[in-house]
Amino acid sequence: MSKARVLPDDRVVQVLAGESLLEASLRADVAHTHVCGGTARCSTCRVRVEAGLDHCAPRTPAEQRIADRLRFGAEIRLACQTTIDGDVTVRRLVLDPDDVRLTDHLRPDAGSRAVGQQKTVAVMFADIRGFTAFSESLPPYDVIHTLSRYFFRMEAVIRQHHGTVDNYMGDGLMALFGADDRPDAALAAVLAGLEMLAAVEALGPYFESVLGKRFQIGIGVHFGEVVMGTIAPPGADKITAIGDTVNTASRIEGANKLLGTRFLISEATRDVLGERVRVTRHEGVALAGKAGRHVLYEVRGLQGSS
Ligand code: FES
Repeated sequence: MSKARVLPDDRVVQVLAGESLLEASLRADVAHTHVCGGTARCSTCRVRVEAGLDHCAPRTPAEQRIADRLRFGAEIRLACQTTIDGDVTVRRLVLDPDDVRLTDHLRPDAGSRAVGQQKTVAVMFADIRGFTAFSESLPPYDVIHTLSRYFFRMEAVIRQHHGTVDNYMGDGLMALFGADDRPDAALAAVLAGLEMLAAVEALGPYFESVLGKRFQIGIGVHFGEVVMGTIAPPGADKITAIGDTVNTASRIEGANKLLGTRFLISEATRDVLGERVRVTRHEGVALAGKAGRHVLYEVRGLQGSS
């Protein structure tokens, strides 16, 4: 007979052949949450398999549907659907009423909250240079209209390169490339960045005629691991990314002011791109809030382009 060690309760329960982890857990009086009664609809019985994933049977079709929808990694399983053929250690992930509220997939406001997943992506930050001063001389309508026109165009470019805008922050935005596991995320981010710069140039005459001014933007890209998931309250299903890669990308964008550049990428991004992009190397750059000195590359264009 197989055994399951259940955390954080630290209980070892016997699991009969063909019995689900949830059934075994409940038989041993573990307070294992199971809002839908074990029918693969609520996801509140979810566990993380911390040891013995090889001993877990493949997902049932019903579990697979929920796992796809909530973007479960392989180690996140529905206890009500999981049988085992060897010892495992699992951690219950839904422990109190607030956890239930955040995870119960039967709630009307449940949406598709994604659990945490590690991904390797390209993170882009873009910011309008001196927008605060720029906007102070404009009527409120023009401030919002200018930003709307700008963001509308930028988002179209980002989407065209299979990226997604993760967040808008005042006159800045953060975009992700590769969150959908497409290859060449770094190249997509650089292509999008070059096109965004061109799009801002192209918008110049419009803004000049309407506002009497043009503006420039700064872009920073870093490539690395992030943790992605739904962090917003129930009802808001927006997936976001957090981690040092995100912070670093933001700092790289900020370094444009220091270097007088428009488009900077990290060394990690440049390593992935190889020789496909024409760059100028900047050594010993201090990044706000980051220790040490960093090598950044100013993107000039694609190899073979003028
Ligand atoms: S108890 Fe609802 S999905 Fe397992």
